[in-house]
Amino acid sequence: APDSAASCFEAFSSVRNPKEALRGLACCPPIYSKAAPVPYVFPTVDKLRERKPAHLLSKDADYVEQFRAGIQILKELPDDDPHSWKNQAKIHCAYCNGGYRQEKSGFPDLEIQVHNSWLFLPFHRWYLYFLEKIIGKHLKDDTFALPYWNWDNPEGMSIPLMYEVNDPIKLSGGEIVDKTKIRSLYDPFRDQFHAKPKAILDFNYGGQDVEITPEEQMNINLALMYRQMVSSGYNTRLFMGGEVKAGVNPISQNVKDLSLGGSLENGVHTAAHRWVGNRRMPNGEDMGNFYSAGFDPVFYAHHANVDRMWNVWKALGKKLGKPGHVDPTKPDWENASYVFYDENRVRVRVYNKDCVDTQTMGYTYQPSKTPWVSRRP
Ligand code: C2O
Repeated sequence: APDSAASCFEAFSSVRNPKEALRGLACCPPIYSKAAPVPYVFPTVDKLRERKPAHLLSKDADYVEQFRAGIQILKELPDDDPHSWKNQAKIHCAYCNGGYRQEKSGFPDLEIQVHNSWLFLPFHRWYLYFLEKIIGKHLKDDTFALPYWNWDNPEGMSIPLMYEVNDPIKLSGGEIVDKTKIRSLYDPFRDQFHAKPKAILDFNYGGQDVEITPEEQMNINLALMYRQMVSSGYNTRLFMGGEVKAGVNPISQNVKDLSLGGSLENGVHTAAHRWVGNRRMPNGEDMGNFYSAGFDPVFYAHHANVDRMWNVWKALGKKLGKPGHVDPTKPDWENASYVFYDENRVRVRVYNKDCVDTQTMGYTYQPSKTPWVSRRP
């Protein structure tokens, strides 16, 4: 099974303009602990963390204040702290741009790539899991939950307001902080036209804007959503992505088989990355490139909805009587693993098989409308 090795290398692959990679390609985590990673054990959970739609939470001043403060704390941590925002962002770069090799499986020359395959959903689920726990730890609130960018609902198809608005907030002490300090959810490296409050995400975005009305775009999006979740995602391989095993070079395989990524990954997931990223930057920074995507706070809201869709897909299978909507059961998938620093800065190893049920992981999604379910073309 693919694994993430303990040793990390400078990430270099799949960056178009490495010389202009302004976020930096030194993506390895700081050596905070030299101990070998230990298997992660879930802490006991008293109350599930409930992730809610970001467009609704944007109206909840207390939540926005708490979330902004949490991200701000990470942004102020030193670079040798694995919890720092920079180091959290670099996790994505390390796992996606060649930072790790398939060393533990005996293929030290082959890199690990968590995209374009069945590793996509579980890797990102774990990535968000630890970020959420880390923010909760720093906020001293273990019920803290990330928001989700509810792009599958017409009311949530723009970048959620909390990531944009720059109004003054009060931190817990009561004082109004310097405006420049509270923009912790804002990212300057976004497409300036798409970052406008009423711009509608284009689920088909390929680098060019199309001239259609917001209503038309919403309808197209809902039809594409149905397609990615139902008609083109009717079995495990099509929805979750192709089977990557240890010893496979993910780069050459991608070239040979571009359809290895699952329907959602190749669809709205990638489109949203490109749509949010600044197309004028040398590498589409931030969201438009793997190496830099994790620097934009909206990345985690985007991936929370991707993660939610995994749950919705399985539930829909039961509801519509579609037997193909199930998790992989092959040992190569179940035993694939990744290494993270947890909320206590312990280096832990986590497995796909332990992330199939979000309730076991201590969190849940507040339901939201899924109008695309009735948009069968
Ligand atoms: Cu790891 Cu949305 O990409």
